[in-house]
Parts: sequence; C-alpha cells; structure tokens
Amino acid sequence: MKNTAQVNQYLADLSVWIVKLHNLHFNVTGPQFKSIHEYLEVIYDIAFDYYDDVAEAMKMAGQFPVANVAQYAEMTKIQELGQEDIPQGKVIDILLNDIKYMKDQALAIRESASEEDHFALANMMEDHAGYYTKQIWFIESMIK
Ligand SMILES: [Fe+2]
Repeated sequence: MKNTAQVNQYLADLSVWIVKLHNLHFNVTGPQFKSIHEYLEVIYDIAFDYYDDVAEAMKMAGQFPVANVAQYAEMTKIQELGQEDIPQGKVIDILLNDIKYMKDQALAIRESASEEDHFALANMMEDHAGYYTKQIWFIESMIK
C-alpha cells in the first residue's frame, strides 16, 4: 500500500470532522434548528462508520492506521470551531465546504487505490464520494 499517508490524512480529517459536526449539531441556531440538528446527526453517524471502515481497510492491507487524537489534530486540514451560537446559514456554508473537501479526498484516494489495484479501498472511496455528492446536492438545494 503506497498511499498510506493519504489514507491516514483522510482518517485524521474524518476524526476531526466528526467532532466539528457535533459542534455544528450542538450550536446551530435559527428557525431550521431541528431539521439541521437532526441532519448533522445522520452525517456524523455515517462519518463515524467511514472512519472505522477506512482504518480497518488499512489493517487488511497490512498497515497501521493512525489512531491518535494528538496526531490527528496536527494532520487534519479541517478547520475547527470555537464555542458559540452558529446561525443556520453559516452552518450550512461550513458543512457544504467541508463535504466538498471530504469528497475531493475520497476521489483522490480512489484514484491512488485503483492505480495499485487496491479494489476494496477504491470501491469504498467510490461509495464515500457518492454519498458526499448526494449530500452536496441536498445542501445546495436547501440554499437555492
Ligand atoms: Fe445529538
């Protein structure tokens, strides 16, 4: 497995994104509070499954996934938030931006995994990218 660093980057991003999604879930404000609060819960539950699936795919390929919060914090490109009310429009913008980033990561890993015939990981990344694409459509339809 040649793309270990790239996959560990994705793990770091997933782990921090899961916490950030909780931050948005806790602190969203506005008339759409309930639907956005619940929608974020669906997304962080799926992201948590993805996190486990990706780490286990690394183990199956004979690698050690990074599983260390301090290392994740250093590695991630997900920008974390403080503690404050976040108006729903801003929550949606942040969410859309981060999902697009996660989709780009998944597509890049899909490409590198395909190049080395790591089909299990390539297929997994195709599923992740497909899920992110659907959420991008949902969110962009919400704000149209
Ligand atoms: Fe909750």
